[in-house]
Amino acid sequence: PENRRSDLVLDPYSLVNDDASLISRRCWSDASVYEAEKQRIFGRSWLFLGHESQIRKPGDFVQAYMCETPVILARSEDGQVHASINSCTHRGLPVCRASHGNTRRFVCPYHNWSYSVSGDLVAIPQEKQVAQCPDKSALGLKRVPRLESWRGLIFGSFNDSIEPLEDYLGDMRFYLDAFLLRFPAGIEFVGSPQRWVIDANWKLPVENQLGDVNHGPFLHAAIIPAEANQEIVDYGYSVVTQPGHGATFRLLPEDAPVESVGWGFESIPGQTGGAELQEYLREVHAQASDRVGPIRARMKGLTYGIYPNLSFLWSNAAFKVSHPRGPGKVEYWSWSVVPADAPAHLKKILRANHTSFFGPGGILEQEDSESWMQQLKGANIGFADDRPFYYGLGLGEEKPHADLPGLVSSTANEFYARAFFQRWRDDLAAEVRA
Ligand code: FES
Ligand code: FE
Repeated sequence: PENRRSDLVLDPYSLVNDDASLISRRCWSDASVYEAEKQRIFGRSWLFLGHESQIRKPGDFVQAYMCETPVILARSEDGQVHASINSCTHRGLPVCRASHGNTRRFVCPYHNWSYSVSGDLVAIPQEKQVAQCPDKSALGLKRVPRLESWRGLIFGSFNDSIEPLEDYLGDMRFYLDAFLLRFPAGIEFVGSPQRWVIDANWKLPVENQLGDVNHGPFLHAAIIPAEANQEIVDYGYSVVTQPGHGATFRLLPEDAPVESVGWGFESIPGQTGGAELQEYLREVHAQASDRVGPIRARMKGLTYGIYPNLSFLWSNAAFKVSHPRGPGKVEYWSWSVVPADAPAHLKKILRANHTSFFGPGGILEQEDSESWMQQLKGANIGFADDRPFYYGLGLGEEKPHADLPGLVSSTANEFYARAFFQRWRDDLAAEVRA
């Protein structure tokens, strides 16, 4: 019989075709692709480390990862923020074991070399017993060479010559600000992140949360009410500001009732924290136009992605990082984010909301992560290598928009994922500096 699929075959040596409508299963499963990603993507991009609200006081620290590299993010006495690789310069042990805390020194357990919170080596216990003391100033923890923050979000990069963070974020700042500037005292991260390991490739959660709104009415049919899905069909937008960065949201009409604007899943009974939370959000909304302008005041966010592996789920106030742990494993971190000036009991409600939907046992998280695990299995099965995954929905339908920076389309268009994989492919193909 005629093979009607002949035009959907990918050159066996390609991972991604020109317009990224066809993507090889090897992108998720191949160990050599993973090794290249570590160098060429995670070695060269800005990577999210944490939020300034986690390290307010001198001596405060949190642990972070840059791909598989463990990093300590800390604030020193002079108020500066430092990012150091968590590996002793003597024999390589981690010098910090706690996920977060406050300290004056990081003391390595093996021979007790000790380091300041800024990463300088300050004491070698054995030096009194040897004639020649090493130059301690040359033996501090290895620094992350670039560290910048934007609106309290701290990023690091191993790439000395990377563009400034503001330029890297580009027009995504417009969409991030729709949330970050919405609240009178800004936002803060609550506690340390929840962390768990999933048998999935790191790009699966990233792609999902960069713009895959299409699965909501089906995979999450039991949870997301029909009216919420209809609101997305009626008012939903998907935006790509630069390949790999994107946002999805609803842009409600100017005369939308105030009750419908604000946090995401407030229409789910029992998960909204009741009247008091709604009242707080109504007050925020009443002043949103002064803080973020009329267009962004009408935005009711869904999900965002910052290349390569930071996601923000506005609808349940979660920042998430997908830390690679090999081609088939990801360590997923999720922080609850709340308005800094909200009363403590409302923050608690918002955190519970974050956890019940998107924590490790979260009801939406379980459905999503099961799909990512199944997708990884699909990427690994034999005798299907010549049948790439199809990413062509809405091909070429994205356009500029008068009020919204970037290219814009309906949420059914998979251009967000095509743009991600085009950038990913080009980064993998680029020369690595010697
Ligand atoms: Fe850290 Fe020896 S390995 S002090
Ligand atoms: Fe989902």
